[in-house]
Amino acid sequence: MCGVVGVVGSRPCVETIFEGLKRLEYRGYDSAGIATMSAGKIHTAKSDGKLVRLEGHLKELPASSSIGMGHTRWATHGAPTTQNAHPHVTGDLALIHNGIIENYRELKAELLKDGYSFKSETDSEVVLHLLSRELKTTPKMKDALLKVITRLEGAYGLGILWAGEPEALYLVKQGSPVVIGVGENENYFASDALALLPLTKSVIFLNDGEVGRLTKSGVELWDFSGKQLKRAPSVLNWTAASAEKQGYRHYMLKEIHEQPAVIANTIARLVDSASGKIDTKEMGIDDLDLTRVKSIVYVACGTAYYSAMIAKYSVEQMVGVPVSVELASEFRYRDPYLDKDTLVIAVTQSGETADTLACIKHAASRGCQTFAVCNVRFSSIPRSSTATLYMEAGPEVGVASTKAFTSMVLCHYLFGLAIGQKKDRISKESYQQALESLRQLPSAVDRAVNAAGLIEDVAAKYYEATNFIFIGRGPSFMVALEGALKLKEISYIHAEGYAGGELKHGPIALIDKHMPVVAVAPLDGHYEKMISNVEEVRAREGVCIGVGDLQDDKFKALCQDYIPCPQVKDAALQTILSVIPLQFLSYYVAVKRGTDVDQPRNLAKSVTVE
Ligand code: AGP
Repeated sequence: MCGVVGVVGSRPCVETIFEGLKRLEYRGYDSAGIATMSAGKIHTAKSDGKLVRLEGHLKELPASSSIGMGHTRWATHGAPTTQNAHPHVTGDLALIHNGIIENYRELKAELLKDGYSFKSETDSEVVLHLLSRELKTTPKMKDALLKVITRLEGAYGLGILWAGEPEALYLVKQGSPVVIGVGENENYFASDALALLPLTKSVIFLNDGEVGRLTKSGVELWDFSGKQLKRAPSVLNWTAASAEKQGYRHYMLKEIHEQPAVIANTIARLVDSASGKIDTKEMGIDDLDLTRVKSIVYVACGTAYYSAMIAKYSVEQMVGVPVSVELASEFRYRDPYLDKDTLVIAVTQSGETADTLACIKHAASRGCQTFAVCNVRFSSIPRSSTATLYMEAGPEVGVASTKAFTSMVLCHYLFGLAIGQKKDRISKESYQQALESLRQLPSAVDRAVNAAGLIEDVAAKYYEATNFIFIGRGPSFMVALEGALKLKEISYIHAEGYAGGELKHGPIALIDKHMPVVAVAPLDGHYEKMISNVEEVRAREGVCIGVGDLQDDKFKALCQDYIPCPQVKDAALQTILSVIPLQFLSYYVAVKRGTDVDQPRNLAKSVTVE
């Protein structure tokens, strides 16, 4: 989950590294450091806390150095202290690591017995000393690395700087992302292409089991057997501006406001406005053998998992096969029944979530077709899947996922619609109705996003609450789950999402005037039952915040506070509209509470460790 950036060129590199780390700070931000090489010597500057604290130490580095690397840490082993911050250095060798060395304890014991001493509590430092020891008998860095790798278990994206080759940076990729940026008389590496955007769009993604060597004029690649590899660069389709805040106070706020454009662009890209035909080639569907889709299993984590739960409501009906939705972290360990006619779909914004990636690899090993719904081109999960539907929602930097969620819900809907139509399962009338809902959606999302002012007032009334319950029924149950996740992850208030029908099976015991209940009740088939839930809450001095139709005076009269939300006919698409008030509610509550909206404590944007 850490941010990793390296540069080798002809001009001073410290500022370039620091700026790159700033663009990756959302991946991990509890300590940071930079190491550079100058006159054959390694220099480091490190600090605990946010990256801004490192800035004051940059003057400790030689201003003229043109090769170096930096790291922002998401602590796995060892507290977030300066001592545990990367790069780790011993003599003429510096190393940064993203991932977890699962067998580090036994390696550390072996090294301690060999007389090596450790400065940090991290698992990463064992790799540094293993490499330092190996170099004593294997003088070439590449060969030494290939030997050290055979001792490591777990996930590791490594960057190495060594006085033995002062003009080169070495990289290793196994389980954690590593991408190379190809510049003009300068080359780079990073744990996320976002860091490279202002420098270059020409990138080379390393695959698991690969080692790289960068100089200012060249890139070399080998696999773990030592075989040289040739790989042409790919071209990123993101702009640097799209990864900046563009005047918004927080990335999260910007990304909430980007949703109308994301929804509109996705529909425009995938649905022909004249014929209504869906572009199944662009969606990756044409790369699937649909005769081998007798069941579908979605695997995902967090927000992506909630979007997949919504997919079940539309895809199962449209495609006409059983659809199950599994938490990736559970699925991979229970040896699930899979056969060659099971389509396993990974839903992932980052394309790097370790548990989700493991599911895809497991499914492929069982002969399944695999499909990714993903927002980051060339990331690990698409590269391990049979086919991919790229969301093209633009970089999502805020740790709390917003536009990725609504984009995923739309993509799942179009996926079901496209395959249902291909299988001739959808009547012309139903298809036209779906197209009409899609036509109405962008302006409805725009209206939902422009109702933010009222929600800021509601947030000001409830930001001191210590608990929240969110309820919904049908697809709105997933909106309740997602709304609760948003609130807890950025405001640190305990919040739970519940199916409305479950309230009386326990949670209603929690209801009193101190426990705000957010009720999501669009005008769908569950509406009357949801109104009964709200009545039950009120009968126990409960306080309801309603999210429903603008004209729904009946629901509004039952609520302490009411947030109107545009409506569309389709219940699955309605979730895209109903979640937006909850995104704003969590955002404004967090701002009132003064938490770090874009980089909430303990979290990271992409969970690349298990
Ligand atoms: C959502 O707000 C969280 N940041 C988190 O639950 C996230 O959705 C989850 O980690 C999955 O990430 P992915 O979509 O990149 O796989």
